[in-house]
Amino acid sequence: MKRYAHITGWGISVPERVLTNDDLARMVDTTDEWIISRTGIRQRHIAGDGQSTASLGAEAALRALEVAKISPGDVDLIIVSTSSPEHLFPSTASLVQDRIGAGKAGAFDLSAACTGFIIALSMAAQAIQTGSINTALVLGAETLSRLVNWEDRTTCILFGDGAGAFVLQGSEQPGGILSSVMRSDGSGADLLIVPAGGSKLPTTPQTVQDGLHYIHMNGQEVFRFATRVMKQATEEAIELAGMTLDEVDWVIPHQANQRIIETAAKRLKVPMERVVVNLDRYGNTSTASIPLATVEAIRDGRVQSGDRIVFVGFGAGLTWGAAAVLWTGLLAEEKRLIWPYRFYNLYQVYARVRSWVLRFVRFIEGVIWGKRV
Ligand code: UT7
Repeated sequence: MKRYAHITGWGISVPERVLTNDDLARMVDTTDEWIISRTGIRQRHIAGDGQSTASLGAEAALRALEVAKISPGDVDLIIVSTSSPEHLFPSTASLVQDRIGAGKAGAFDLSAACTGFIIALSMAAQAIQTGSINTALVLGAETLSRLVNWEDRTTCILFGDGAGAFVLQGSEQPGGILSSVMRSDGSGADLLIVPAGGSKLPTTPQTVQDGLHYIHMNGQEVFRFATRVMKQATEEAIELAGMTLDEVDWVIPHQANQRIIETAAKRLKVPMERVVVNLDRYGNTSTASIPLATVEAIRDGRVQSGDRIVFVGFGAGLTWGAAAVLWTGLLAEEKRLIWPYRFYNLYQVYARVRSWVLRFVRFIEGVIWGKRV
């Protein structure tokens, strides 16, 4: 029997702190009018002290599990797509696994910038379709505010923090992720890059002095690339899924710039009423932007069970991709009484105790075994 990967849970988490265009105009030489007219962004959310990619991701994950009515212990795989991981290693996915107490889940990070959420969805869907796993948590989580040079007006106006999560579950019922397209062109690697801090250019006082640990971007080149590839990837994903553009209810694009989205929609000949846009309130949250836009559209009743959706993204790499989805929502058989988010504090206590017990056992093992291995 053919297996399908359905999106059965969804959740988001954004920091409370809001940075408006007027706030930015007090920090760099810019204006509210310039930012709105060139990007469509009015405000963005910025992580506070104590918030991080993993903490936002874990909150979004528990909300998504609550919608799917499954507990963290049911999750087989966690993929965190991010360009602002907590560390080079271990993966942020492992930290999320620990924070939510997902005892049997494998976990890894996926680095494909703003396209990452689509690629992570595709990877998780394929693992479910082959039967190797049944339940996956796919996260797009970013705190890009920590990589932004707050003195560079060409980039600091764009980015915001946030996280979104989908639960994917296997079923024989047709639907869910129907196709995906993944592309890359590394010849454009330098167009959007954090130059230092990796193995090529390890952090030194000089790299910090030169600001090479910040995001560097050639905005116009990225703009041109984005409008070109969004049409192409959307059409390919639709064709692979055996749909036509007329049958698509919603195009949910990566939320980078209102003008990029409008140009792509025009080229696709899709009216803006069928395109989900929320970047005015969140800015560019990179790989978190597609789940953030999707969850808002579900909450306000636009996206409904039975809708056909195309997700399309682009970003650093260069990378781009799209996925066509038949939105089914909660699977009929999953009606369990589980509330990971309503009892968020309880789950946090459980996950923390679980983590401390594991650390304690390791400590005791160390005492017993000493230096012997
Ligand atoms: O997830 C993918 C991430 N990246 C993107 O999606 C970025 C795609 N690119 C863009 O969104 C746009 O290129 C930007 C919004 C970044 C820039 O808009 P633009 O229309 O391409 O502006 P520009 O770079 O051509 O700059 C036009 C002028 C320049 O001044 P001069 O040289 O004409 O005197 C800039 O210095 O605007 C100036 N400028 C600003 N002025 C006020 C650049 N940034 C600002 C600013 N406020 N924040």
